Amino acid sequence: MGRWVKVAAADTVAEGAPRAVAVDGWEVALWRVGDAFYATDDLCSHAEASLSEGEQVGYRIICPRHGGQFDMRTGQALRFPAAAPIATFPVRVQDGALWIELPE
Ligand code: FES
Repeated sequence: MGRWVKVAAADTVAEGAPRAVAVDGWEVALWRVGDAFYATDDLCSHAEASLSEGEQVGYRIICPRHGGQFDMRTGQALRFPAAAPIATFPVRVQDGALWIELPE
């Protein structure tokens, strides 16, 4: 069981305009698809790149550096050269704020 941390106002994260936040040593990317929010590691699993600076196509994250792709719902790598998954974090919305659950 992790701990829940408030990370941003929900209305600061738009679909196609993700947001990176630093929280307790994690660099986390916040994503939105419709009314649903997702949180992933912001660092690509392939090399040094900030995924929130890449493109979003639906649930798909496209790394800005080499074009590797990930599913923001599961962290699964979808396209070479990304092969290893990225971390994902449970998200909840409460009183207009986004909370994520970090591992202990
Ligand atoms: S750094 Fe992301 S695919 Fe290479």
